Amino acid sequence: MPEEAEALHFVISKSRETARLYGYKEVVTPLVETYELLSAKSGEEIRSHMFTFKDLGDRNVALRPEFTASIARLATSTLKKEPKPLRVFSVGSVYRYDEPQRGRYREFWQSNFEVMGSSKPEADAEAIILTNCLMKLTGIKDYSFKIGHIGVIRGILSQYNVEEDVQNSILRLMDKKEFNKALELLDKKRCREVLEGLLELKASTAFETAEKLQKYVKDYKVAKIAAKNLIDIIKLVAAIRCPIEAVEPAFARGLDYYTGAIFEVKVPELDIALGGGGRYDKLVESFGGDPTPAVGVAHGIDRIILATKIQESIPQEKQRKTVMIISVKPELKTEALRISEVLREAGIMVGFEIMGRKMTKALEDADRRKVDFVVIVGSKELRKGAVAVRDLANREQFTVKIAELPEIIKGQSKNGD
Ligand code: HAM
Repeated sequence: MPEEAEALHFVISKSRETARLYGYKEVVTPLVETYELLSAKSGEEIRSHMFTFKDLGDRNVALRPEFTASIARLATSTLKKEPKPLRVFSVGSVYRYDEPQRGRYREFWQSNFEVMGSSKPEADAEAIILTNCLMKLTGIKDYSFKIGHIGVIRGILSQYNVEEDVQNSILRLMDKKEFNKALELLDKKRCREVLEGLLELKASTAFETAEKLQKYVKDYKVAKIAAKNLIDIIKLVAAIRCPIEAVEPAFARGLDYYTGAIFEVKVPELDIALGGGGRYDKLVESFGGDPTPAVGVAHGIDRIILATKIQESIPQEKQRKTVMIISVKPELKTEALRISEVLREAGIMVGFEIMGRKMTKALEDADRRKVDFVVIVGSKELRKGAVAVRDLANREQFTVKIAELPEIIKGQSKNGD
């Protein structure tokens, strides 16, 4: 519907502005891709929710459930030779066979940012900071980030020789907060205890929790490096006052390709995330590219719109003036058409009377549509190179030279000042 489309394009425009400010180049990826590409490393959670079908060439294809796989493939092909870091932005609809409910749809829009080529915490911080920027630009209030680190969890599990696919199943269950089921998959008691301990790790600030985590995993080589990495990222995002609500050591996300820090952004009014992302250092390589560390984030545009509605925080764009143009006599139609083009060239929205209505009916229609001005083209005024302008809000009418019309309309506010 028009208002919804307007809200959608408002958020898209702010996503593009964010991409411009952070130096991300936009790419447009296909809506339909091979099932193989889209399902490769996303994991069971996404795979089982994909819209898949056979095309007329008997190929297995699917509607994209996200952008990351398509961008990773680009990095192994067309964009392979681009200098690093490679910063890529995309926006569009994505499809998942989720159970529809508030904020959860089967067709939804994402704005997606990927930065490839850097393993440094600055790249992870950038994904969070640009999300912070988008939240601000769209007028979202009281948002906050939750951060975790897949490297810590995988680091612990690997040290107990837990196989990768079991690790993936555990992470998937942890994402769904089914911690007991996740623990049941572990046969070593000590490993279970260490993982369980992650759930209880909390301190009064996010930074202190991360420090506590670092101490907790001091005997786990890979996990310890991951915890230090988490601290470095938090230090960077704290420098620009990103609201980090929590470090959650047992936080996992439903995608298999994550290898490092992960995060989500939320608002208190909704229990679903407005955006989420993280580091995935192995994906590009798994598509046959060079080893390429990468971080990315996707924002749920529909959920951002929902949040702005609940918070009544959608910024009011400056209203542009609207005009309806009516000719007094049919013979003056062409002249009215010419004037309407002059106004449109000046950027003014003009509705031209195309229903053949008489003046009274046309004015009633203009009133109903709440246009700002009606321009009436009549022979008496035309002889002086002018038209009559009716200001509908103030119920006043005046004569204006056609040459001055665009400026007068643009300059005149609704209340006549
Ligand atoms: P994701 O967490 O699956 O991550 O999705 C990102 C965002 O899309 C979510 O935070 C949410 O706002 C929105 N979203 C997800 N499912 C739905 C739904 N059914 N209805 C409405 N909105 C939804 C990814 O897609 C990753 N590709 C992000 C990423 C990019 N990681 C690295 N690079």
